This record gives sequence, C-alpha cells and structure tokens, in this order.
Amino acid sequence: VSVETLSSEALRIRSGQGDYDVVPIATADALREKLFSLTDPFFAIDQRVADLYPAVLAGASSGRVHRFPATEEEKTLQGVERLCRAMQDGGVSKKSTLVVIGGGIAQDLGAFAAHIYFRGISLVLVPTTLLSMADSCIGAKTGLNLGESKNQIGFFQSPSAVFVWIGFLKTLTPIDLRCGFGEIVKLSITAGEDAFNTVSARIDAQGFSVAPDISSLILGALRTKQPIIEEDEYELSLRKILNYGHTFGHALEGLTHHEVPHGLAVAWGLDVANYTAMRLGMVDASMYVRVHSFLRRHFAVRLQSRVTAVDLLRLMRRDKKASASGVNLVLPRAFGKLQLTSHAVDEELESILRDYLANENLFSTL
Ligand SMILES: NC(=O)c1ccc[n+]([C@@H]2O[C@H](COP(=O)([O-])OP(=O)(O)OC[C@H]3O[C@@H](n4cnc5c(N)ncnc54)[C@H](O)[C@@H]3O)[C@@H](O)[C@H]2O)c1
Ligand SMILES: [Zn+2]
Repeated sequence: VSVETLSSEALRIRSGQGDYDVVPIATADALREKLFSLTDPFFAIDQRVADLYPAVLAGASSGRVHRFPATEEEKTLQGVERLCRAMQDGGVSKKSTLVVIGGGIAQDLGAFAAHIYFRGISLVLVPTTLLSMADSCIGAKTGLNLGESKNQIGFFQSPSAVFVWIGFLKTLTPIDLRCGFGEIVKLSITAGEDAFNTVSARIDAQGFSVAPDISSLILGALRTKQPIIEEDEYELSLRKILNYGHTFGHALEGLTHHEVPHGLAVAWGLDVANYTAMRLGMVDASMYVRVHSFLRRHFAVRLQSRVTAVDLLRLMRRDKKASASGVNLVLPRAFGKLQLTSHAVDEELESILRDYLANENLFSTL
C-alpha cells in the first residue's frame, strides 16, 4: 500500500470489453456535475443513499430515477425487471447511460440490467459503500440470487467509468464499514506481508474509522486486485485466488441466513482458510497466529446461529467453486502466496473444521 491518495489521478483498468477509469471525485458538487454531463443519463439509486444525499441527483426529472431497496431480494430477476421497466417508462434509448449509485447490491443489479437492456447500454458505477469502492467496483462481475442460492446467475460486464467520492462513507453503519475492511484485509494478505502490516497497523491504531487515509487503503486494495483481474478477466485461473476466504465465508453466510453479512463472513473465512492451511502443513503456524490474533481483536462477533462442521461442508459442496472431486479452497503458503487447492470432502477436512469451531472460532455462539 503506497501513500498516494485516491484524490490524485484516475486508475485505468484494462478490460477486453474496453478499458475504463476509476476516477476520484473531490466533492458532491463535482460528482453531480460529472453525472449530469454523461450522455442521456438514467439513474438507478439505492433508496437509502437517495434519502441521505438528495443533492447528488438534485434536478433530475423523477421519470429518470429508479430507487430500490438494497436487499438480497431485490438482487433477483424480479428486481432487474423492475429496473428495466423504469428505464422503458423513462424513455431510455440505446445511447443512454445507466448510472448505478449504491453498494455491491446496486452494482450487481444495475450492471445486469445495463447489459441486457437493448442488448447493452453504457454503464457508469458510483460505489457508495467501502466494500464497493475498495473491491467490487472493478472486475466487472454481476450476480443475481436465484431462490436461496447467492450470485447464481450473472456474467462479466465492464462499466465505462467508475466515479469514487469517499464522502459517501461518512453515513455507513459500523457493520457496513467493518464489512468493507474485511475485503481490504483479504486483499492485503493477497498482496503480501508489507501490505498486511500497513492495513493491520492502521486498524489497530484507528479502528474502522473514516479518516482521510482511507483513500490510500482503497487505492491499495484496488491496486492489488487490478493486475489479477487484468491478467485473468474471466476467472479461468489466476483470478480464483480472489476467492480467498470465500468458500468458507459463503457457507457461513448461507448457514446463518445472512446473520453474518458478506464482508464479515469473508474475514471469518480467511481465518478458517489459514487454519486449514496450517493443519495441512502448507503454512507456518506463525502466519496463522498473527492473522488470527489481529482478526480476533477487530472482527470477533457473537452469533445467534449454531454452526457445525457437517453443515458447513454440506453448503461448501453446493458452492459454484465445488467439483465432483471435492471443494476448491484458496489456501495460503505465506503472505502474498495463495494457492488454489482441491480438497476432498473427507474425514480430514471435517476434523479440521470441527477443531477450528471447537477451539479457535473467531465467532462465538450463544
Ligand atoms: N460483483 C462483485 O464483484 C461483488 C463483490 C463483492 C460483493 N458483491 C455483492 O455485494 C453485496 C454487498 O455489497 P455491499 O457490502 O456494498 O452492501 P450493500 O449494497 O448491500 O449495502 C449495504 C447497506 O449499506 C447501505 N448503504 C449503501 N451506501 C450507503 C451510504 N453511503 N451511507 C449509508 N448507507 C449506505 C445500503 O442501503 C445497505 O443497507 C452482496 O450482495 C455481495 O454478493 C459483489
Ligand atoms: Zn467478497
């Protein structure tokens, strides 16, 4: 993580669908000006963000704004249909730009709609959560929920630009901030020991506060993700390492019916992945212990739901990343060295998870 701030210059992301810039924006007024200078903009905005920041879309005619709740239920084909109908009613043309303002939910929903409306219209993302600024605004993934399964349908759809105004972060709840930091920690371990030291020292000193240095944390996370998604845009190989913490994390999200939100589940998943790697002899105990004690200081929570190894394994088998021969895990060999590993769903894995839950669990249960 460098000391540069996001307020200096744009970050250009190379994509087979067309390169795009992540553009830092200094003020709400500057953001508004940018948005209204786009070609025939139509706005899809998280209801909560619209209420908190009325100035950003001041002057937009009501027929050109679709407001929606940021819920997992909205991130479905039904939610996409509602957005497409609003675009139809608002007279969106092939040349219009769909501007999506909100967090990861808004992005997943909006990018899907932009891709299918008239077989594709221009898409601009305005991330408003820490998670979406530091992680999901680049990489072009969309994902809708189908029944109980998360992110089951989707594709890769690059935006034409991303505008980041960190002013939005001021109103996030502590839990949503913590979720964003969960993904930032993931990317810091992915980058290497120096990055982890920087990020963990910052959190030890200032917690999850929104201080000016948050720009450099966001930029550090984006710069770690950038070369990985550029080299393997469609996740055929290398990009799979970004799922570090996610196989275990998704299982926990599903099992607790989202009592644990995504970013927090990822933090837990990192801990389980590190523990598993240690037990398999892949990584030094010291690496596991360092990250574990850091996570325990900042990410430990108390759950209502009870979680067992058998339940976790059952859900992991259903994951997108599972295959007939077992589950795919991203396990560390060291800071900055992640390895994609296929492991059978066997007695060994079950006993590792059982031991983790009994003796090490970051999340205690009631
Ligand atoms: N496409 C991807 O690459 C990708 C990556 C990671 C996560 N995701 C998806 O993103 C979703 C999670 O995204 P998220 O964590 O950004 O959450 P989110 O979009 O669910 O937003 C979290 C909460 O914050 C509120 N909110 C948003 N901006 C706010 C602001 N500025 N001030 C106050 N409240 C605000 C929302 O209304 C919501 O209640 C999940 O569905 C996950 O699957 C997608
Ligand atoms: Zn994630």
